[in-house]
Amino acid sequence: MLGPRKSLESLANRTSGHSLAKTLSWPHLIALGVGAIVGTGIYTLTGVGAERAGPAVILAFAIAGAVCACAALAYAEMATLIPAAGSAYTFSYAAMGETIAWVVGWSLILEYSLACSTVAVGWSGYLVGWIQSAGIALPHALLAGPYDDGLVNLPAVLVALAIMGMLMAGTRESATLNIVLVVIKLAALSVFVAIALPHFQSANLDPFMPYGFASTENGGEKRGVMAAAAIVFFAFYGFDAVATSAEEAKNPGRDLTIGIVGSMLVCTAIYMGVAIAAVGALPFLDLANSPEPLALVLRDLGQPFAAHLIALAAVIALPSVILVMMYGQSRVFFVMARDGLLPGWLAHINPRTGAPARITLITGVSIAAVAGIFPLDKIAEMANAGTLVAFIAVGASLMIMRRRAPHLPRLFRCPQPYVVGTLAILGCTYLLLSLPSDTLIRFGKWNAIGLAFYVFYSRSRSHAGKEQAAAKS
Ligand code: ALA
Repeated sequence: MLGPRKSLESLANRTSGHSLAKTLSWPHLIALGVGAIVGTGIYTLTGVGAERAGPAVILAFAIAGAVCACAALAYAEMATLIPAAGSAYTFSYAAMGETIAWVVGWSLILEYSLACSTVAVGWSGYLVGWIQSAGIALPHALLAGPYDDGLVNLPAVLVALAIMGMLMAGTRESATLNIVLVVIKLAALSVFVAIALPHFQSANLDPFMPYGFASTENGGEKRGVMAAAAIVFFAFYGFDAVATSAEEAKNPGRDLTIGIVGSMLVCTAIYMGVAIAAVGALPFLDLANSPEPLALVLRDLGQPFAAHLIALAAVIALPSVILVMMYGQSRVFFVMARDGLLPGWLAHINPRTGAPARITLITGVSIAAVAGIFPLDKIAEMANAGTLVAFIAVGASLMIMRRRAPHLPRLFRCPQPYVVGTLAILGCTYLLLSLPSDTLIRFGKWNAIGLAFYVFYSRSRSHAGKEQAAAKS
């Protein structure tokens, strides 16, 4: 029922002489984490969060950050136990068998690809606001998808295709570029807080929780602190970047804990600061549904130049988040195809660029199509659903592998694994159930399609399944 499991030996050649230079210590790891994490979540979804929770969006960021920190710790231990490509899909394959791994892989496809589409739409919001505030009029039909009274969100389509082209040409983000972009992103957010915070009015925070704590649905719209936490959760993922660099950490046991918990703390603190400054400066309903809420706040405060700067920072820095996520997506597809669960021709590597060109092309075009058509919050909700399922699986894998193989070497050991694993599972489940029901139904359909594909196509072609059958006969 659960399908074959992958042996740890087949996943990692622990005795191989290939090892990466140990050059990173915790400040590098925090920079890496913050670089991959900060993006559309804070720049755009703050407005959606404020609409769903009111001023308590501040609390929503804290809750989502705490849940993600538990998942991230579990992730870090698993990444050092099984340092093979494919992240949560690969961990689940070893811990829980192929069927669950398939569901997780299918969910990761949603996570990575829809996160790219979300960031592309967020990027487009800032670009368009920036161009329009410079007095240039553009036809609305080409700037918004059909659900927002337009035809197609062309800037979002173009940025997704451009990043796809870069990946197909073999581009990867360099560490130096990452530092530059981290500085740009954080400087812009600091400028925002420095300008908006002096305009803080406590009246704007009253009532603090106009829609209560739990997520409640009314006419298809979810409201409440948990409803907001379920959407702003998007702002926190991307930390796999830290977890997967265990081999390069000078002192992984210590540096990885500080790097992961540190980047979560840094991001949570920044996000709460930005949220306090935003909802303190303007009534929360003014922020709701803005495609560029932070620029809107600054313009409303009579600071058009600063609004320009923050939009420019978003336009420059957000594409790197798409690059990292699209790269992750192509690797998950690649590993699933290599395992025999997806058609093998997908995993073809272009010998000249070293990139899996076919997968990247299919992924990039799909991401661009979604970004061109659908609204930001709906795409982000689906990406979150996929990510939450993957995080639940990682929490479970952590505990299962601690019981099954307690003595195997792990460069990083999660403190209190059963507490952290349980909190990750419970927190992510609560966030998942706080998503709007139409999103959960859509997610259910996505998984039904996935499982049908698995039963009728992948199961009989699985390499692990064939090996198991051969061993039995
Ligand atoms: N955490 C990333 C972002 O907010 C995906 O853009």
